[in-house]
Amino acid sequence: MRRSVASVNEDADATFLKVASYYWHPVARSIDLPPGAVVPARLLGRDLALFRDAAGRANAVEDLCSHRGTRLSRGDVDGNGCLRCPYHGWAFRGDGSCVDIPQLPPERSIPAQADVTSFRVSEYAGLVWTCLVDEETQRRERPTWPVIEAGTHWVHVGVVYPWQVQASRQIENFCDVAHFSVLHADTFGNARVTEVESFHVDVSLDGHHLAFDYAYPSLDPTVDPGPGGARPEVGTNFEYRVELPFTVALAGASGPGSVMCVAASPVSATEMNLFWLCAFPLGVEVDAEAYEDLEARIFLPDQEIVESQRPERLPLDLLEELHLPFDRFAVAYRRQLQAIGFAIPGRTFTNVHAD
Ligand SMILES: [Fe+2]
Repeated sequence: MRRSVASVNEDADATFLKVASYYWHPVARSIDLPPGAVVPARLLGRDLALFRDAAGRANAVEDLCSHRGTRLSRGDVDGNGCLRCPYHGWAFRGDGSCVDIPQLPPERSIPAQADVTSFRVSEYAGLVWTCLVDEETQRRERPTWPVIEAGTHWVHVGVVYPWQVQASRQIENFCDVAHFSVLHADTFGNARVTEVESFHVDVSLDGHHLAFDYAYPSLDPTVDPGPGGARPEVGTNFEYRVELPFTVALAGASGPGSVMCVAASPVSATEMNLFWLCAFPLGVEVDAEAYEDLEARIFLPDQEIVESQRPERLPLDLLEELHLPFDRFAVAYRRQLQAIGFAIPGRTFTNVHAD
């Protein structure tokens, strides 16, 4: 019997949410979580309340009071660095343990059922990252970007963009070198050169890393077009280093020595927050406002296009769409998403070679 589209999508979403939960994802920028603040976040369909404890450490607990189901993110942080529920004032530590129920006499102990669920948090590269599963269940450590540790760069953390797309769709778009000359002709794209040179995508033995370099005759987006209507050609050697499922470090895109890092954080199976930052070599000065404006002029057309893509869920079966040689990143990415478990159990997937 043929199954309905809705039930196929339900299976696909359940698989997506489960497999994506084995990995770390950013849920906020560090600057958006000042001491004393309680910040709501959503990851893989789970609502979180983020706050810093007395030591300044970021914490994530389920945004649901164990008592009457109120949103803890509407509460505040008390003088001990505990999160207080706004309804009855119960207090929770960062590990989720309930440490105060003001309605109880002091001699009564606090029942263990009063604790709330907490999640592991790691602060890195100006972002607050969370993993929804325990250490034994996680597939990989939180991603690292070598440029952050190098001590050779300073980091601009960009504004967060919510996209109504599956996270994998954004990563595929970010790594699609074939659209530069068409969609981005008003910034860095070079409309005179549309043919895509051959390139090779390396797949790591563990299946989680994809790497490729692509030399592209980009135009300088920071300069107005001259009398002939063209911007000067600067050329960029794009060096893409993707860590599955949803992070990329891209060297070269924002000038020589720069490394742009993105993480598509899955809010649900079909929504995401785009976290991004750019590491610039020490000594390189950047007008932050102008740089944000430029990146917005690149990300916004991408967002409009990717939000229009159908089906909403990235088709991992390679026979579902046409793949040509310049799509070899997409082919490798979809294949590796299958390999790490994003394929729907019980469905037959077909591998094709685009080369
Ligand atoms: Fe793009």
